[in-house]
Amino acid sequence: MDTPPAAAGPSAPTGATRPGALGDLAERAMRSALLTLSHRRALGRLATGLPITRAMVRRFVAGETLEEALPAIERLHAHGLATTVDVLGESVAAEAEARAACARYLAVLTALADRGLDRNVSLKPSQMGLKIDERLAHENVAAVVGRAVETGAFVRIDMEDSGSTDRTLALWRELRPSDRSSGADVGVVLQAALRRTEADIDELIAARGRVRLCKGAYKEPEAVAFQDKADVDAAYERLMIRLLHEGTYPALATHDVRLINRAVDVARVDGISRDAFEFQMLYGVRRDLQEQLAGAGWRVRVYVPFGAEWYPYFMRRLAERPANVSFLVRNLWRDRSRG
Ligand code: FDA
Repeated sequence: MDTPPAAAGPSAPTGATRPGALGDLAERAMRSALLTLSHRRALGRLATGLPITRAMVRRFVAGETLEEALPAIERLHAHGLATTVDVLGESVAAEAEARAACARYLAVLTALADRGLDRNVSLKPSQMGLKIDERLAHENVAAVVGRAVETGAFVRIDMEDSGSTDRTLALWRELRPSDRSSGADVGVVLQAALRRTEADIDELIAARGRVRLCKGAYKEPEAVAFQDKADVDAAYERLMIRLLHEGTYPALATHDVRLINRAVDVARVDGISRDAFEFQMLYGVRRDLQEQLAGAGWRVRVYVPFGAEWYPYFMRRLAERPANVSFLVRNLWRDRSRG
């Protein structure tokens, strides 16, 4: 079994501060407001037209087209980082939009295979039509999985708001290929914030399902999700340790240095091989940490989104870190003062 070097665990970001009780409240209010705004389509149309927001968006989004995103993917590979590609778009309201999104994924899988790049994509059920008609989403995801089987690719079904958890898990159950010998497989995501996840994880572990564990990016009511960050973090730690011991090649999706160090310690102490799991992080978030971990020999995959429909994705990234909002506001202000 692999043993990481003593200094394999990453260090905390410099300048990190711990907000007090008031700061916590303000942060929670800001997060809640940004997540509410992420659903406002009219605001999205306005924001996507502003040049300055577009510049900030480029930090989190690899481009508007696949051609723009491909060099970013190649650069990540050159730094020893694996990738999963996300074609931005979600909560589509018309069948034609869902079918167009499906066609984009088919093209991405073909392009990745043709160029010898990582054949790994992440898609959202609501982008495939889940909120219009379950059968439509099933057909679209099945088409993507079909192309994944042809190209030996991996498809991750992202998890959205708790109203779609059951239908998303059903999609995973129905569409996971029975023959996974070519490397083609379908995985799903579980959110530590949801109270139900402790039970869902039992099923996924028993079925040897490939789980990505994240904290959860959606605004959820107290009845279904922990509201305190400390409770979400504690749940993540418990679930992560279960997956490390009992899961099938789990993906630990977090930028939380404490949790990452905990995973490194558990792997080291319990003799879990470095190739038995991977860390996952978002494009543009903690690039230093991504490279530090990969440099220390851990597997790291970067979630690379591209496309013109970046507004809700971008708003969730702002909600995760209020400092991102002040950066955006400073830039908007500077731009305005320049006239
Ligand atoms: P936390 O929010 O505690 O952040 C820890 C530290 O990371 C922060 O202190 C900061 O330094 C840094 N950080 C985090 N977010 C940042 C940001 N946006 N900008 C700058 N710095 C930031 N969610 C979901 O509901 N469904 C899904 O399918 C997925 N899929 C997914 C894939 C991958 C690869 C990742 C990494 C994340 C997701 N998520 C997700 C999002 C996830 O639920 C969560 O909202 C974010 O990862 C932020 O949580 P952290 O675990 O990073 O911890």
